[in-house]
Amino acid sequence: MLQTSLFPTLASAKRSRKERMGVHAWHPYYAGYSEAFVSSAIAYLKLDSTSSPLLLDPWNGSGTTALVASRWGIATLGCEINPVMNVFSYAKSGYLLGQKHLLAELSLKITCKSLHGSIPTPDPLGDFISASLCCGIRNLYAIVHSQEYPEPHFDRAILKMIVKDKIQLNPFQAFFQAALFITARNLAGYKCGSNPTWVKTQSEKPEVGETDIISEYKRVVGSMIRDLDLSSIAINDKILHLPLLADSRNICLLDNAIDAVITSPPYLTRIDYAMSTRPELLIMFDPKTLRTIRENTIGAPVIVDKSIKINSTWGKTCLQLLENVQKHGSKAATSYYLPNMLQYFRDIELSLREIIRVLKHNARAIIVVQSSYFKEHEIKLGDIYVEMGNNLGVKSEIVNREIIRGHMAHVNSKSNQYKKGKIYFEDMVLLTK
Ligand SMILES: C[S@@+](CC[C@H](N)C(=O)[O-])C[C@H]1O[C@@H](n2cnc3c(N)ncnc32)[C@H](O)[C@@H]1O
Repeated sequence: MLQTSLFPTLASAKRSRKERMGVHAWHPYYAGYSEAFVSSAIAYLKLDSTSSPLLLDPWNGSGTTALVASRWGIATLGCEINPVMNVFSYAKSGYLLGQKHLLAELSLKITCKSLHGSIPTPDPLGDFISASLCCGIRNLYAIVHSQEYPEPHFDRAILKMIVKDKIQLNPFQAFFQAALFITARNLAGYKCGSNPTWVKTQSEKPEVGETDIISEYKRVVGSMIRDLDLSSIAINDKILHLPLLADSRNICLLDNAIDAVITSPPYLTRIDYAMSTRPELLIMFDPKTLRTIRENTIGAPVIVDKSIKINSTWGKTCLQLLENVQKHGSKAATSYYLPNMLQYFRDIELSLREIIRVLKHNARAIIVVQSSYFKEHEIKLGDIYVEMGNNLGVKSEIVNREIIRGHMAHVNSKSNQYKKGKIYFEDMVLLTK
């Protein structure tokens, strides 16, 4: 049954123009959802800071869930496979707002050092930025990385549920790394292709001297502090929000640890999340690690495992879709699209099992998903999540459905070829353990 008046209404997950500015503009293109939606989901789930609930976002992305929850004084754990997004998410911590004097001191320490030093040749970053900028950015990254940072104070609720030591970042370090990523983007002027998730390799790469890099870095640090100030995150003397470098298919939390989940997984739209942060990943890691991160990113357009078999747990809507793909005569239907979908549904099943495991008894999860199409066949993702949730033994229903405009498929001009007037839905799926 769709939305009833018995419940507080869930707001649209679509971001307003304002929500693509300030802290939300720090990172490259990302399919983030709206702050208004997270607020409404917190109200819907009746989460109340006085009872110290612990919230989880298993696909944390840019950290919108945590940002909004920390305004409500609610602690959040986030799982995210992409370390770059954890950097941006952790840099938006209300804890840092209470430490602005330390941010200023650290900024001075970082920017007084020289950016000289050797860099690898050939450098994979060289596809995007000039040799001089590459050298400056690599050396500034080494300085930020080796700087000593104060140990933050954690909300104890947040720590005691984590199985393994997954805390790999310090919020100050995240802040200065995020500033470096933004500086590199600003100076390099990366361009996206027709697909906004892909950064194009650059033919014209401006050379940039050390003084210009440092002065842009200082400017970015100042503007990030102002963005944080304007983001209405409550100043907090404890960390309320911890992004973990963790796979949703293997969540590093104790059983029955979590009071609620608010999240949005990758959809079956082949958004290439890892590639949207390719220059940043190449600042942090080598190309091999980038490839591994991409292969572990659910929904990425890469085939990693060709041995996956159709599983009845995925439900009748999913099985019907897979049959339609299997029978489709079009190019790559069985060689690429089918294995890609099998991977996706296997990974979502594993993730839902993990979400259910870590939720407390009677606790609820709100999951936002969007439908899409394979050629003329609608991929009713909301219905598929509901059927999968029910088959995994939790009560599952769609509690809100909206027609969406500006769907990712609209960037693909060929998407109307198989069926005209396609309608796309955004569904809010509620699971109750
Ligand atoms: C739709 S986005 C989440 C956006 C988020 N709600 C926000 O507002 O920014 C999905 C996220 O899932 C992440 N992801 C993909 N595969 C994952 C996995 N195996 N484990 C954890 N996170 C994963 C992607 O990197 C991406 O950041």
